Amino acid sequence: MPNLLKLTDWSAEDIRELLSRAEAIEEGRLNPQFDTFIVNLFFEPSTRTRFSFEVAEKRLGMKVLNFASETSSTKKGETLYDTLRTIESMGVQAAVIRHPEEGYYNDLKDRLNMTLINGGDGAGHHPSQTLLDLMTIRQEFGSFEGLTVAMIGDISHSRVARSNAIMLEKLGARVIFSGPPEWQSGAFAGTYVSMDEAIETADVVNMLRIQTERHGEVSCGMTKAQYHAAYGLSVERSKQMKPGSVIMHPGPFNRGVEIADELVENPNSRIFKQVHNGVPVRMAVLEWALTTEKKVVMA
Ligand code: CP
Repeated sequence: MPNLLKLTDWSAEDIRELLSRAEAIEEGRLNPQFDTFIVNLFFEPSTRTRFSFEVAEKRLGMKVLNFASETSSTKKGETLYDTLRTIESMGVQAAVIRHPEEGYYNDLKDRLNMTLINGGDGAGHHPSQTLLDLMTIRQEFGSFEGLTVAMIGDISHSRVARSNAIMLEKLGARVIFSGPPEWQSGAFAGTYVSMDEAIETADVVNMLRIQTERHGEVSCGMTKAQYHAAYGLSVERSKQMKPGSVIMHPGPFNRGVEIADELVENPNSRIFKQVHNGVPVRMAVLEWALTTEKKVVMA
């Protein structure tokens, strides 16, 4: 059975097929069911990813185990591999994992006989977030070709920026970035522009949270108010947005920092639509992972 660790090996056609499957599930045209044990292992905080995977799993009829790292034997020194090998031995067929270490799965994927779904690895990748973002954009605009998507904020620490940029470019969108110079990253596709240019030219303004948990010594040295004035989507700045453009944010959002309080639930905001789409997308991901016969290397 395949793993979903990152999307970089997926073709544009693979993505379109999965999004169509998610839409069919959402519209009630498909109702796949699985008699499968699955475990959710989150070693970093999460609300959206963790609970929408759990809702998706329960809607698919799965038997769901939720691993609590604080009360598990990892506290007695058990490694991630040994934890998963132990759970696999009980007959659990799949695991959704979030872990602070980038690429944590590299050491696991060929040693386990269970499906691994990456729920976020450090500043690495967040494939299910990318898929739900793509579903939201496709619902809004019909396709990706010719769109400009701006990602704004803490780019270098954002697994969402990395995953989304690679796939959006593959699907025909133009990706631009803006944010503090200290948090720029040359590691993936896209061009850096000024805030004014990003806001005025984008069809999708995707604001990103400041990833304070990953900063170490690297900080842009601003107060929250200074950051909002320089790089936040303020009410004033939102008036520069193109007609028909939309606001997105993967969440969790910090009102008054990267996005003004008033804009979170503004008519142009798709933030809660993104959350809503997380469930059918994750149902489609799980269906794909549990029904694809061939071992497809997605890492
Ligand atoms: N977008 C996202 O991954 O949110 P959580 O950290 O709440 O899962």
